[in-house]
Amino acid sequence: MLWVKAFHIIFMVTWFAGLFYLPRLFVYHAMSEDAASIARFKIMERKLFYGIMTPGGVITLALGLWLWLGFDFSGAWLTVKLALVVVLIAYHLYCAKLLFDFKHDRNTRSHVWYRWFNELPVLILIAIVILVVVKPVF
Ligand code: HEM
Repeated sequence: MLWVKAFHIIFMVTWFAGLFYLPRLFVYHAMSEDAASIARFKIMERKLFYGIMTPGGVITLALGLWLWLGFDFSGAWLTVKLALVVVLIAYHLYCAKLLFDFKHDRNTRSHVWYRWFNELPVLILIAIVILVVVKPVF
């Protein structure tokens, strides 16, 4: 069980590297005007999303489900955590939509909007780590 938990945490960190950095790339991409920078951001965003962030997310979820169903964890903390995980998955999928918009030069949002958008995974990470470690709700 401890090995599963260790890799759950390792892949969660990988996932969050992307959840934090992809919207940051969107900030700089939204501010770019020259063709070379725009082309470079498109490559960076695609590689981050498909090469790191999505595999990290899928493996984190798979190992989380293994922990939950394989080792009999339960409680209100887990229910609240799963609700936050659903929000995180929605955020991830919305990032895919934004990636697609940038790829086709159809972004309509400002860099300021992406700066605010970038804060949501921070709040979710803080909430989930407190829920699973401190377990303020049982
Ligand atoms: C399908 C989604 C997920 C499920 C079913 C799940 C389930 C679990 C379970 C059952 C544990 C063991 C808790 C314990 O040892 O008391 C755990 C540990 C942990 N999970 Fe998840 N998890 C999921 C996603 C996530 C996500 C998205 C994050 C990060 C934001 C995360 C962060 C952690 C951390 C940090 C621990 C270690 C807690 C500790 O050792 O005290 N999990 N998870």
